[in-house]
Amino acid sequence: MTVASTNDRFQPINLFDYEQLAKKHLSLMALDYYSSGAWDEITLRDNRAAFERVKLRPRMLIDVSDRNLNTSILGQSLQLPLLIAPMAFQCLAHPDGEVATALAAASAGVGMVLSTMATKSIEEVAVACHDYSNSLRWFQLYIHKDRGLTSALVERAYAAGYKALCLTVDAPVLGQRERDKRNEFVLPPDLHLANLTSISGLEIYHQKGESGLFTYFAEQLNPAVTWHDLEWLQSLSPLPLVLKGILRGDDAVRAVDYGAKAIIVSNHGGRQLDGAIASLDALSEIITAVDGRVEVLLDGGIRRGTDILKALALGAKAVLIGRPILWGLAVAGKTGVSHIISILKTELSVAMALSGYAKVQDIDLSLVSQNHLDIV
Ligand code: FNR
Ligand code: LAC
Repeated sequence: MTVASTNDRFQPINLFDYEQLAKKHLSLMALDYYSSGAWDEITLRDNRAAFERVKLRPRMLIDVSDRNLNTSILGQSLQLPLLIAPMAFQCLAHPDGEVATALAAASAGVGMVLSTMATKSIEEVAVACHDYSNSLRWFQLYIHKDRGLTSALVERAYAAGYKALCLTVDAPVLGQRERDKRNEFVLPPDLHLANLTSISGLEIYHQKGESGLFTYFAEQLNPAVTWHDLEWLQSLSPLPLVLKGILRGDDAVRAVDYGAKAIIVSNHGGRQLDGAIASLDALSEIITAVDGRVEVLLDGGIRRGTDILKALALGAKAVLIGRPILWGLAVAGKTGVSHIISILKTELSVAMALSGYAKVQDIDLSLVSQNHLDIV
């Protein structure tokens, strides 16, 4: 696939190439917003380092001629154990924004989670994807102080055919990203909170010496939400509840007890609590605690097919990928996002073959740990 412009001879072949190329396509404010982690970015770096620490134990002389990457999440089939993570403001990368991302995901048979803070609305994305009615599309929810506004969002997501409600639980306030503070982050005048402007007139305002998004969260989102509010949330629609941002086994058990149907192990790509455990490092404890009662997904630092393999070996049913999608979008819109997905698919397929696994369902803990040898 050719994605770079004619006067740019560099052709990206992996996700890191895309990151380099994307820098030429983004304003400094957008690039900093997309790439930042909170405070010293320790967790941001550790998400990657955690994958590098895990070593694989490939099996030999297995027939891997016919490989099957299909899986299912909450009963919906996927051609690859991959979803696109919810990410705000995708029109900063490309005018088609979340619509391009959703179309690329649907046509590749991977999932997509639309952010509350999207720059294309719930309905615009659903209409654009009407040819893909079976695709896995979830809505990510931030709970505003205005309960009526929150319930309106849930009702709209349900009416528009989104298949689950993904509540992000790691952001009672926004993490402090210092580059955004220095840049006094704000959306350009032509971009809006597409899901919120229409029903409430809410916008992000420029603020001196602060990220406009940080101030928006402080003023509009509800930091008093607790486990008890999950009952109310589940009463608003029949959509299954997915909790995103769990990092401990005891919270995972609580999530199951309060009715969540899936959990996303995540530290928000290192953008919230800096110093939080790398998501891959948190996975095993959560898998043990949940004990198969709900599906467990993971995000944070996935950049290679081998990263997906490691997350699956440690018990995740699928993974979500964040920033590289924005790099693909910035470089070439929907084509770029499609290319990112196909690179990951090829890498995972090759990595499975080299590890001795023909089906994603067969990937097990013995691939990474000697303590769980199922061979004699
Ligand atoms: C995010 N993330 C995020 N999460 C969420 O629940 N709602 C949101 O609106 C956003 N917005 C957002 C914007 C940007 C620019 C980024 C980079 C991330 C977090 C996201 O869903 C996911 O948890 C991480 O991005 C995963 O880590 P990687 O793949 O980016 O390392
Ligand atoms: C972020 C929010 C919007 O990470 O989730 O920027």
